[in-house]
Amino acid sequence: MVNNIKLSDIAYNIDGQPMFKMLSKVQELERLGKKILHFELGEPDFDTPDNIVEATCKSIRSGETHYVNSSGLHEFKIAIQKTTLNSRNFKPDLNQILITPGANSILYFAIKCIVNQGDEVVVPDPGFPTYFSAIKACGAKAISVPLFEKNNFRLNPDDLEKVITNKTRLIIINSPSNPTGSVMLASEIEAVYKIAKKHNIFLLSDEIYARLIFDDKINFSSPSIFDECKERTIIVNGFSKAFAMTGWRLGVAIGPAFLIEKMGLLLETIVSCVPPFIQRAGIEAINGDQSQVNFMREEYKKRRDFLVDGLNKISGISCIKPAGAIYVFANIKNTKMTSLEFADFALNKAQLALLAGDNFGKYGNGYVRLCYVNSLDNINLAIKNLKTALENEN
Ligand SMILES: Cc1ncc(COP(=O)(O)O)c(C=O)c1O
Repeated sequence: MVNNIKLSDIAYNIDGQPMFKMLSKVQELERLGKKILHFELGEPDFDTPDNIVEATCKSIRSGETHYVNSSGLHEFKIAIQKTTLNSRNFKPDLNQILITPGANSILYFAIKCIVNQGDEVVVPDPGFPTYFSAIKACGAKAISVPLFEKNNFRLNPDDLEKVITNKTRLIIINSPSNPTGSVMLASEIEAVYKIAKKHNIFLLSDEIYARLIFDDKINFSSPSIFDECKERTIIVNGFSKAFAMTGWRLGVAIGPAFLIEKMGLLLETIVSCVPPFIQRAGIEAINGDQSQVNFMREEYKKRRDFLVDGLNKISGISCIKPAGAIYVFANIKNTKMTSLEFADFALNKAQLALLAGDNFGKYGNGYVRLCYVNSLDNINLAIKNLKTALENEN
């Protein structure tokens, strides 16, 4: 603290995202000449498909470099209506749609517009770290619903109902899930929706991995089909993962018009609007040629299988095959290390950057997350390094 000048209480409570802290640590090692295998960030190794890049270049060249409507381009919202009808069987009204700078920001906008100081938000645990940090930054309290490996890390609606109190204002679900890759069944999604309705609370469904399900027997389900996002359901979606567009910062929220309006005012206050040429990329991503996107998905499936098989051959590690998203959540309890110790060990002894399960909540210890959207060569090397390092240790 300089000159005893204090910041706000909230400022001392901002945690940010652990993956970015890990990335800084790894980059520091790389500057010192170390070669590190990157499995820590949810970052596809493919470049953004050419047709999407071209749409943006064309937009910039045609002069679309000015402020635009803060809630999003009309054409983009029309495209979102169409794709929502195809994928979720309902057509949201235009005033239910908000175009945002990435999906991460939607979490903050929604939580900020829903909770007051001291309110409770129910989150899956292990879960995406922004849930915890955004809730804390808004002065509310995150209440964990544990996800158990014996249930394939799927959220059990009965466990969820047990933690609802009269302070609960919002439930967050995330299927397919980060960090576990689990995909909830349609019956479970319906049960969660019924709980939200019974207690008259909001339900935020983070669907950023909806297009990334690799198991043919499992279908994507969204609670939005029950109220068409008119009453309580808020869909969080984004272009980072399925379209390999992490650096573009583009997301879409669909929710009740009265909430979307307020979230839009918050967005306008903070970032004014999303750049129009980035939004053109979004239109092309959903309306344009899907061949590169489909190719990436097929590749991810091969990588998942390869990584899961490899990890299961290492003594001390076991890993269930996740149905979706881009992560495996491996059980390392038999190595007798904590997750944090294991993450340090992997970095220092196997040149492998991964994330300790503790980063995803209090139920993450005993597990580590690896993001497998990496080349098969790198996955092979990661498995080899880890196996050798553990053998040398024993
Ligand atoms: C579950 C989940 N939600 C939201 C996001 C945020 O994505 P972005 O801000 O890149 O659109 C991520 C990113 O890793 C995620 O895993």
